Amino acid sequence: NRSISLDASKCFLASLPHDAITHTNCCPPIPSPFKFKDFKDFASSNSPLKVRKPFHLVDEEVIAKFEKGIALMKALPKDDPRSFYQQSKIHCAYCNGAYHQQYPFENLKVDIHRSWLFFPFHRMYLYFFERILGNLIGDPNYALPFWNWDSIEGMQMPKYFTPLNSSLYHKLRHYNHMPPHVVDLNYNLNDSFVPPLKQISLNHATMYKQMVLASTKELFMGSPLRLGDESHPGIGSVESAPHNTVHKWVGASDTPNNEDMGTFYTAARDPIFYPHHTNLDRLWAVWKNLEQGRKDYSDDLDWLDSNFFFYDENANLVRVKIRDSIDTKKLGYVYQDVNMPWLNFKP
Ligand code: C2O
Repeated sequence: NRSISLDASKCFLASLPHDAITHTNCCPPIPSPFKFKDFKDFASSNSPLKVRKPFHLVDEEVIAKFEKGIALMKALPKDDPRSFYQQSKIHCAYCNGAYHQQYPFENLKVDIHRSWLFFPFHRMYLYFFERILGNLIGDPNYALPFWNWDSIEGMQMPKYFTPLNSSLYHKLRHYNHMPPHVVDLNYNLNDSFVPPLKQISLNHATMYKQMVLASTKELFMGSPLRLGDESHPGIGSVESAPHNTVHKWVGASDTPNNEDMGTFYTAARDPIFYPHHTNLDRLWAVWKNLEQGRKDYSDDLDWLDSNFFFYDENANLVRVKIRDSIDTKKLGYVYQDVNMPWLNFKP
């Protein structure tokens, strides 16, 4: 078995970009003595599923709860693994090499990006984030809203993220990309003016290409990363765009690495990171059902047995395997069906 099995008791100083604007140790608190449990908290088949909905279609109550939950996470002590501060560092830890592979490859750092780890890692990250948030607001059935940037109504930053007094506000963002500016799903740091209707049809074309044309698991999910492999074996279509491109589009333009959203070590400090990734998580589920016979890597034991560690809503450390992540219903949630205007948009 050549799965990527982490040892969460060993966390190292992350390697940040040479011109990073802040320096933090990205490691989470490590329980002492070290202990964890294996994930087994699957939803029972008769309990109601949570439905994650897009920002432009949810009730104000869902938004208010999201704002409140983020505010409560931000108010927790910094060393509480459920705090917004610690939650945001998880991303840095798994992306900037704070964990290493296991014997005999301890010299290889783990980065979950640009490989088949991308979708499952972020799914479980959001899963625990949602449970922590739901627990803090006293609503264990709370479902995270998603930023539906592939629908016409969602093709701008949701307006809730901009008021200065909101917990969803974040300072380090591109000042020129505030709503109603239409997002460029294929953004390459070039801000030449494109009329909104033209931008919308370019976005449909990007989505068609990345979702419909990327019909194999290698193309869509990224390439295998097994024990002993170097990081970044190959990026999946949607990870490259709109994932990376929307990160860059949100991040500030006058910082060295488009902090915060535009670079791994700081991306998750911006609350919009989570609804951005919720939409990506949704697209994984959408992709599988676009046509018959689409498969992810579910027949590959190295993928199924690879694992990650997260803290749950009771601040217990939990080990999850990719095999736990494949079916959202077993995790207790589904996505609301929404219009997909790009579906028949052959370029
Ligand atoms: Cu872990 Cu949006 O990247």
